[in-house]
Amino acid sequence: MLLELKHIYKNYLQDKIVIPVLKDVNISIDEGEYVAIMGPSGSGKTTLMNIIGCLDRPTKGEFLLEGESIVNYNENRLSDLRLNTLGFVFQSFNLLPKQTSLDNVALPLSYAGVPVKKRKEIAFQALKRVGLAERVHFRPSQLSGGQQQRVAIARALVNNPKIILADEPTGALDSRSGIQVMNLFQQLNEEGVTIIMITHDANIANHAKKVLHIFDGEIVEDKERKEKQQAEVQSEKEAKNDTVFSEIEQDFGVKEWEGEI
Ligand SMILES: Nc1ncnc2c1ncn2[C@@H]1O[C@H](COP(=O)(O)OP(=O)(O)OP(=O)(O)O)[C@@H](O)[C@H]1O
Ligand SMILES: [Mg+2]
Repeated sequence: MLLELKHIYKNYLQDKIVIPVLKDVNISIDEGEYVAIMGPSGSGKTTLMNIIGCLDRPTKGEFLLEGESIVNYNENRLSDLRLNTLGFVFQSFNLLPKQTSLDNVALPLSYAGVPVKKRKEIAFQALKRVGLAERVHFRPSQLSGGQQQRVAIARALVNNPKIILADEPTGALDSRSGIQVMNLFQQLNEEGVTIIMITHDANIANHAKKVLHIFDGEIVEDKERKEKQQAEVQSEKEAKNDTVFSEIEQDFGVKEWEGEI
């Protein structure tokens, strides 16, 4: 198992009052999965994502990454983990406005201590991968929203992360740019990258292989979707049966088979 959250609780303290936000969250995600997390505003999605992304710690519970408990890791180890294993994509892109695409994408590599020339080379390859080889010297203000998000995805990719964490990655995009981002995620997932994505949009969530719902800090697996998938398998079976019958009909030259075979 790539990632396991066991009995995770998160409380915030506000004016000495404890606000429970995550309540006994249990999630297991395998390598190569593509998971969407849906839920109403305020249900705890970003709080959960921050915990998965090692940007925040749970109040209580166990978090295993590749089988190793990380809840007691110190800040240094957590930041190494973020740098080497995780790639982040945010709704608002979070690009540095005065830097070019190339420099924005190369930034995580500078934290990782990669020499300048090598950084630029890797950043260029990442931009090429997201279809922006011709925009390397543009600054964010000179790019469309969809292009900015693709720069942010390239930045998330430069360290070859195992997991991409995306919080409303299409939230600020028009539907066409949203589809481009979804195509890119699909491609990355096919290449083996695990994707965990928060979204409000059911159409966007449909791109994932698994959908989890969070309500008031509690996770509910998408039963409806499971039932739908089962129904599809069932109707496929029925369609196959129909084919068998129509083959019999053809063999016997009859429209309806009434006798015994
Ligand atoms: N630092 C904080 N201190 C106190 N309460 C917080 C803090 N951060 C979040 N909360 C509370 O936790 C709850 C969940 O917030 P969170 O940001 O996780 O929601 P969300 O599901 O991401 O919502 P949205 O869809 O609007 O982004 C909210 O009620 C919020 O007020
Ligand atoms: Mg949020």
